[in-house]
Amino acid sequence: MVKDQDIQKLKGFREFLPGEMIARRKIFDSMRKVAEKFGFREIGTPSLEPMELFMIKSGEELVQQTYSFKDKGGREVTLIPEETPTRARMVKENKDVPKPIKWFSESKFWRYESTQRGRLREFYQFNYDIFGEGSVEADAEIIAVAVEMLKELGLEKAAEIRINDRRILESILSTYGIKQSMVEVLNIIDDKEKMSQKEFLNELVDAGLSKKESKIVNKVTELSGNFEDVMPELEELVPDSDDSIEAYKRLLKLKELLDSYDVLDNCVIDLSIIRGLAYYTGMVFEIFDTEGDLRALCGGGRYDDLIETLGGEKTPAVGFAPGDAVIELLMKRENLWPEEEVETDVYVLNVSESVKRKSLEVAKSLRDQDLRVEVDLSGRNFGNQMGYANRINTKKLVIVGERDLEKGEVTVKDMVSGEEEQVDLKSLEGYFQ
Ligand code: HAM
Repeated sequence: MVKDQDIQKLKGFREFLPGEMIARRKIFDSMRKVAEKFGFREIGTPSLEPMELFMIKSGEELVQQTYSFKDKGGREVTLIPEETPTRARMVKENKDVPKPIKWFSESKFWRYESTQRGRLREFYQFNYDIFGEGSVEADAEIIAVAVEMLKELGLEKAAEIRINDRRILESILSTYGIKQSMVEVLNIIDDKEKMSQKEFLNELVDAGLSKKESKIVNKVTELSGNFEDVMPELEELVPDSDDSIEAYKRLLKLKELLDSYDVLDNCVIDLSIIRGLAYYTGMVFEIFDTEGDLRALCGGGRYDDLIETLGGEKTPAVGFAPGDAVIELLMKRENLWPEEEVETDVYVLNVSESVKRKSLEVAKSLRDQDLRVEVDLSGRNFGNQMGYANRINTKKLVIVGERDLEKGEVTVKDMVSGEEEQVDLKSLEGYFQ
């Protein structure tokens, strides 16, 4: 039989102590603040979904990584690896919500990945999406949200948005005759950042491309840099097809809008950005640290067909999601991660058992003023209560003792300066405001 002490937490799962949770709350609150500034509204979603929901469009790689099982009713279910399909279903089912629909949420996700730095099996994302708006204006706004979020976290210099349009890359590749193995080629491009150049070329050859074609793919996907420099080079490469010319023109318009939002300097074009998820239809982007040391902090893009694929009305959509794990790594590297400890506003110390009742009354009146208050629960003596009050970073101590009480007073001690003051019980209300 397994003994209790042998049970360890699972690989790729984390647990957080209160100090760590305070830091994490600050990060999520920053993301929420940005969402609210742009008029996004919060939604709640299930953690478990029918497996088919992810089979439809999330792509094979993601489906293979899911925690899927049969529930007790024999249904095939999946712990959500991402939220986009759920949201698409919600949009389909809630036709009356005025468009554009702007939703945010903070949720937990599960993917059975091989764990490594920044890749876990349980993680959090903060999802931002705009539904019902196909314009490039919506693309620009979602990128502006992403930049604002980076700014709120202090990461606007340490990270950048890398943008592409899948249609441009696909049409460039098909003009070079790379059509048949397109999906495989796109998957290899998606993994490019994890490979050396030699490995990349070999994988392409294994997928059926000639050496010459592999070199072309390598060259095209190396095209990256700021909009000003890359757009003219891209224009040369864009084939003469309606779809690709439209995509190119849209990128030009996006550049203009990003400039109006004053976020153009935070963005680069990168033709190697493909995104692993199968539902994206146009503009895609990822956010990476500028040193190129970490995996993607965020990913997103436009997915105009997903709601229709799920049986709904054609509803264009664009969105993105930052993940907590890589953001934490980057903020720690940049010394921006909040180092937080638990704090207590007041500890009510009872000098003896005889004043216990009074000390509870004092604690109640302080809590009624929304202060964070602790009292002794273990019958500790004066010194031990004091020691505990110190360890929970108490700001003020209210010492309740018999002699003070006879005068209708308590002693208030400032735990930082060490100063003590006799305070009339009646004036305790409002004393700490
Ligand atoms: P994704 O690129 O799969 O996109 O995930 C977005 C972010 O979540 C990643 O950039 C990464 O920071 C984080 N993430 C993903 N997998 C893991 C993992 N195993 N461990 C830790 N962090 C991870 C999506 O999920 C899309 N649904 C985003 C989206 C929203 N597209 C449109 N709207």
